[in-house]
Amino acid sequence: MRPLGAARWRLTFAVGQARRQNAVVTIDDEKRAAAEAAAALVQDGMAVGLGTGSTVAYFLPALARRQLRLRCVATSPATAAAASALGLAVEPFDHLARLDLAVDGADQVAPDGWLVKGGGGAHTRERIVAAAARRFVVIVSSDKPVAALRPPVPVELVAFGLPATLARLGDVRLRDRRSPDGGVLADWFGPLDDPAAAAARLDATPGVVDHGLFEPSLTSDVLVAGAAGVEHRRVGGPVDRSP
Ligand code: 5RP
Repeated sequence: MRPLGAARWRLTFAVGQARRQNAVVTIDDEKRAAAEAAAALVQDGMAVGLGTGSTVAYFLPALARRQLRLRCVATSPATAAAASALGLAVEPFDHLARLDLAVDGADQVAPDGWLVKGGGGAHTRERIVAAAARRFVVIVSSDKPVAALRPPVPVELVAFGLPATLARLGDVRLRDRRSPDGGVLADWFGPLDDPAAAAARLDATPGVVDHGLFEPSLTSDVLVAGAAGVEHRRVGGPVDRSP
């Protein structure tokens, strides 16, 4: 696993330009800049995974504006609806075995590339899409990188035997809605000082469908937007990074 600190980086200009013009750079400006940098990575003919959340909401129009011939799969009904409304060709994820590229946001990005995802409750589908992608690109504003991951971790649970699963997990709080696949959404407040151990514990807990701890080997790139531009961090994920 390569630490992000050793990663190659470059800058794009959307946010930097705003700063030179003395405009206030907001978190939304940063999300848009990261999203536009990711849209520039998509090539004609690709099969693309579309994440979920407010940062991805900027990615979708940036991608649609490029007017490429694409096949897209969406990680949530909300993303599918938004992408379709923009003219992107969204299909159910039941024909494609591999995706060329997937782009998604994150709630936390650790220095070693571990992510917490699932703030929007889409983490189960998001992991499936990320794992199917030859290149998984994470887009975040400057408030998402953290020195160390902190709870909670979103989880998706099977409804059957829920009290037993909750008892085994310990400190977990239920959300008031289900996932699009009928799973019970919750947030786990267990110890996160060792993300690999926490992920292994969640993976080994009967009744846990999936969780929002994404290991560095899933992620190829993290695009972090800040006041100076978009920093491009390479992580330990798949290396098919054309272009
Ligand atoms: C949804 C996610 C999102 O990618 C994550 O919550 C970040 O969202 P946003 O871009 O709105 O900050 O994992 O399940």
